[in-house]
Amino acid sequence: MLAVGPGSRCVDATLGDGGHAAAILEATAPDGKLLGIDADPQALERARKRLSAFGDRAILVNDNFANMEAIVERHSFRPVLAVLMDLGLSSWQLESGGRGFSFREDVGLDMRLSPSQPVTASDVVNTYSQVELQRIISTYGEEHQARRIAAAIVRQRPIGTALQLAQAIEAAVPRRGQRIHPATRTFQAIRVFVNRELETLESALEQAVRVLEQGGRLVVIAYHSLDDRLIKTFLRRESRDCICPTGQPTCTCEHRASVRLLTKKVVKPSAAEVRENPRVRSARLRACVALGQAQ
Ligand SMILES: C[S@@+](CC[C@H](N)C(=O)[O-])C[C@H]1O[C@@H](n2cnc3c(N)ncnc32)[C@H](O)[C@@H]1O
Repeated sequence: MLAVGPGSRCVDATLGDGGHAAAILEATAPDGKLLGIDADPQALERARKRLSAFGDRAILVNDNFANMEAIVERHSFRPVLAVLMDLGLSSWQLESGGRGFSFREDVGLDMRLSPSQPVTASDVVNTYSQVELQRIISTYGEEHQARRIAAAIVRQRPIGTALQLAQAIEAAVPRRGQRIHPATRTFQAIRVFVNRELETLESALEQAVRVLEQGGRLVVIAYHSLDDRLIKTFLRRESRDCICPTGQPTCTCEHRASVRLLTKKVVKPSAAEVRENPRVRSARLRACVALGQAQ
């Protein structure tokens, strides 16, 4: 989908463990360059080690992808041929990040991608009102039991660890044969809220289209429906010449398409890939080509 070759310049906005970055650097050898961004300083250091063999072909930046355009300018990185966004968390962050992303971890509730962010999961869980908790859990977790869960959290406070939070939720809304743990949606909600994931994603998508050269490609992989819906809506809007309300007889919006869709339908992993790596089961990939008209 990225269609990169020797000499291409690519932005990997979600460097993580550097797996995609290494593949891109191999595909763009001998002289292609990669600008890798990650908000998590620990992820960046891990990727730095993994990518050291590529020398100065890999430029790594510890920052939020909400600052993508400024980062590209600062490093004089144009022309950009491809931008990759592989959203969410890496396996390492989930399993051993020690920040309470996983409800199996008996560690403090942090959930920030970067220690520079102001609000932790513990602040939300232990100090927000029941009404505010319910709103967050319902909006960012799409959890139908948000009211009961918010009440249980307030009853059980103070809640020190991720495991304690998961247990409080499980006691309030026991498993009824469902496959996913009853705390899954609440953990997602708190993480999305703490990291302002939807706001940063919307802004980063706009910037990605602006930094791309005409014909450059944007590939985005989402792992939950809130992100995927936002991406789908963004791409649909940006691929149209007119975004006036349907039924309006003449166009007044003056909107011009800035991308052409490469994926008319979302791309899902094959059954074989899911068997090999169950974590990709929720992955949804969408891609587009920039038309070089973004403002
Ligand atoms: C699924 S992992 C990426 C894995 C990577 N593609 C690889 O091959 O190893 C997502 C990464 O994006 C980072 N991330 C998530 N949101 C971010 C944001 N707003 N700004 C910068 N990095 C972000 C996370 O810290 C995490 O390391």
